[in-house]
Amino acid sequence: MNEKTAELTARPSWKALQSHRDEHRGVHLRDLFANDAHRGDRLACEAAGLYVDYSKQRVMDETLRLLRTLAAECGLRERIDAMFRGDRINTSERRPVLHVALRAPAGSSLTLDGKNVVPQVQAVLARMEEFTRRVRSGAWTGHTGKRIRTVVNVGIGGSDLGPVMAYEALRWYSDRTLAFRFVSNVDGTDFVEATRDLDAAETLFVISSKTFTTLETMTNAQSARAWCVAGLGDTAVAKHFVAVSTNAEGVARFGIDTANMFGFWDWVGGRYSMDSAIGLSTMLAIGPDHFRAMLRGFHEMDEHFRTAPFERNLPVLMGLLGVWNVNFLGARTVAVLPYDQYLKRFPAYLQQLTMESNGKHVTLDGSAVDYQTGPVYWGEPGTNGQHSFYQLIHQGTQVIPCDFIAFRRPLNALGRHHDLLMANVFAQTEALAFGKTAEQVKSEGTPEWLVPHRVFAGNRPTTTILADQLTPATLGALVALYEHSVFTQGAIWGVDSFDQWGVELGKALAQRIIGELEGPPGAPLAHDSSTNALIGRYRASS
Ligand code: F6P
Repeated sequence: MNEKTAELTARPSWKALQSHRDEHRGVHLRDLFANDAHRGDRLACEAAGLYVDYSKQRVMDETLRLLRTLAAECGLRERIDAMFRGDRINTSERRPVLHVALRAPAGSSLTLDGKNVVPQVQAVLARMEEFTRRVRSGAWTGHTGKRIRTVVNVGIGGSDLGPVMAYEALRWYSDRTLAFRFVSNVDGTDFVEATRDLDAAETLFVISSKTFTTLETMTNAQSARAWCVAGLGDTAVAKHFVAVSTNAEGVARFGIDTANMFGFWDWVGGRYSMDSAIGLSTMLAIGPDHFRAMLRGFHEMDEHFRTAPFERNLPVLMGLLGVWNVNFLGARTVAVLPYDQYLKRFPAYLQQLTMESNGKHVTLDGSAVDYQTGPVYWGEPGTNGQHSFYQLIHQGTQVIPCDFIAFRRPLNALGRHHDLLMANVFAQTEALAFGKTAEQVKSEGTPEWLVPHRVFAGNRPTTTILADQLTPATLGALVALYEHSVFTQGAIWGVDSFDQWGVELGKALAQRIIGELEGPPGAPLAHDSSTNALIGRYRASS
């Protein structure tokens, strides 16, 4: 039983925020806008090409001031400095957290244990670039001399979601003569469907796994090798498999020449790795120059996060607004709503980033939290969501803060499409904030009995992130914005945002059950009665 309890809710600023919330409970966004003609411009901020309008969040100047005081009391400044200094801030794994070094410009310096890590990052990037150029130019051929036409990334979690999200997001910039597939699920269907129409002679597998031990990835990698060998013979593996990992021994044991391995380091968390060598498939798709542009976008946001005062520090603001919504307004989920089809996998990517980072029940020193930590993130691209779950966001009984993400200029200009898309973004945030009163509904001649159904309470918090166009640099800045807002929230909640012990128990139990499913049919089972019965039924059917 955990004896210690976290101190957060006893902090003066926490109590001040509670009183402030209680005092202003009846204040509606309609009032806040009516009392301040400039609110829409004032509560907005811009950095690294992202304009963030948070004026439709349920905050007053005093709320923001108190949130900044909370950040100060929780040592956010010190935490940021500690991360950039290479301190071992991932305490439960005793690791530093230095994904910011992955996008530090060549020639700059970030030291870890007295050693500048930027040169080794740049060296891997240079190898990735060289390999990418060879594949894209056709200089790297498959075993039979044919050009590579399809790249299959095999990975899961951060070794899949970052690559697939970035590929989809930047598909407009990609080389259309190359096709990309992503295999993650241990369900054989994923592998079979991804490869069923491929020619092994033209296929390159990128086996992406930080640890090179993950069950799903290793199983898919073995199937990929069997598929390749069946088509081309044993000696083909060298030209059809490359690896991305921190585990050179594991890569060699699998049979991939470490000359064809692209490394990274234990100070890069899986969910923070899309800009490391894990981004090899991204670089193959969009080319080295666009990849470098993406890194510049990341870095610009890193520098903004590191140096901007908290009043206009986007990740800090977004992080603190998240804390306000979760801990003071009672939000349990956040909807991420990109109004750009290319960002269709962005909500899934953010789910791992946010929920694996801040879904924690104890603080860094093991004290139990007595407050909510990370909310559930979910979402779909607009406008599709509008015709599905927006009903609940507008008229349901829970507060669901929403992040709207949109771009001024489309990548695919087509008739009126972009104006229609953007009109919907602006309309949704306006409707959610201001709603529609009973008086307004009645004044439209609505029959009395129908009025309650057509009322919109409004006062539903949203943030709008508006950028000029979806470019590699914008994507980098956007991902870094969320990475650092997750960090900010973790610093307030006092949790380790960089470990993931919560995934271990299920993994360990599955290992034991695998033995039971594949072992002698009648072997006794010693689980609970439900698990025993389920395993029994499965064994009976196989
Ligand atoms: O099980 C969770 C996790 O460890 C994630 O944090 C990680 O992104 C994923 O598995 C994949 O791990 P790896 O890259 O080592 O295969």
